[in-house]
Amino acid sequence: MIVLGVESSCDETGLALYDTSQGLLAHALYSQVAMHQEYGGVVPELASRDHIRRAIPLLRQVLQESGIDRHSIDAIAYTQGPGLAGALLVGAAVACGLGLALDKPMLGVHHLEGHLLSPLLAAAPPAFPFIALLVSGGHTQLMQVEGVGRYTLLGETLDDAAGEAFDKSAKLLGLGYPGGPAISLLAEQGDPQAYQLPRPMLHAKNLDFSFSGLKTAVLTVVNKIPVPMSEQDRANIARGFVDAMVDVLVAKCMTALKHSGLRRLVIAGGVGANRQLRAGLNAAAAKRGYTVYYPELEFCTDNGAMIAFAGALRLQANPDAARREYGFSVRPRWPLQELVL
Ligand code: KG4
Ligand code: ZN
Repeated sequence: MIVLGVESSCDETGLALYDTSQGLLAHALYSQVAMHQEYGGVVPELASRDHIRRAIPLLRQVLQESGIDRHSIDAIAYTQGPGLAGALLVGAAVACGLGLALDKPMLGVHHLEGHLLSPLLAAAPPAFPFIALLVSGGHTQLMQVEGVGRYTLLGETLDDAAGEAFDKSAKLLGLGYPGGPAISLLAEQGDPQAYQLPRPMLHAKNLDFSFSGLKTAVLTVVNKIPVPMSEQDRANIARGFVDAMVDVLVAKCMTALKHSGLRRLVIAGGVGANRQLRAGLNAAAAKRGYTVYYPELEFCTDNGAMIAFAGALRLQANPDAARREYGFSVRPRWPLQELVL
């Protein structure tokens, strides 16, 4: 079975073809980062318009790369939510238009389920069950995953998401959008002793997170430093921020593993690309005999492959999940816990 995946929930247009017997056949991505950089963040209307421009050329690209004819597609999976309403509508409209034209069944996929299952696309995928840390621009959640569609929320952020805290703190340091990779790189030059920033909810008796205070701590430090801030000051603050963030994420993951009795940890979402987080998790897990699984770097951030893949897994579990229904609606807000198989 060949599934076409269409992702357009934010500022990346992703298309991919996944074959349940051969694996990923092709995937193509267009990132709008350069366009939004000028505004310091994603401009929803510009994002929607750009998805319209990119979707069909990317479709042609994946068809060409995979060498398959469009009529060989068995089902089309598109990101139905959560995300930016206008951006989601473009992907849904493109996907359902294609489905109608090709007479193929459709399947709306939950973006976070795509992220959550993306580590299973790796060469050495984890087996179920596992603990998953989902750390993206919009979400920070710890979940126990028993199988496809069987997710239990263990804890989540009460305010900012981890990626959001990265982006907002990077902005305070005068770094561009998206701030995660930039602040991570700068932190490598920083002195870990210079700024000890708060570790929010580190000792709380639950698995929830809170990152808005950490961002405010960055603002407070920035405001105390005489302008212009030196490059070393900025690196030191970046280091203080990254160390605090990593400490909290690592500690909560270890607690979740300990309480659940599970030994496998899966990291998904854009912040999962962060090298300090990976180093911290690997060290803590090795000490305790746990194994950490990551998606391939290119599948950490938004992409079409994870949507095609999640769609294919859902269809394997329930062939009736895809329908020849071409009227569509999107769900900009859609809690993962509401998903059923
Ligand atoms: O998963 P994703 O592509 O989109 C959402 O679904 O939100 O995640 C994007 C987020 C952004 O906040 C970005 O700054 C962050 O992931 N990010 C990183 C890194 N690469 C991307 N944060 C820290 N370190 C990185 N290397
Ligand atoms: Zn995402």
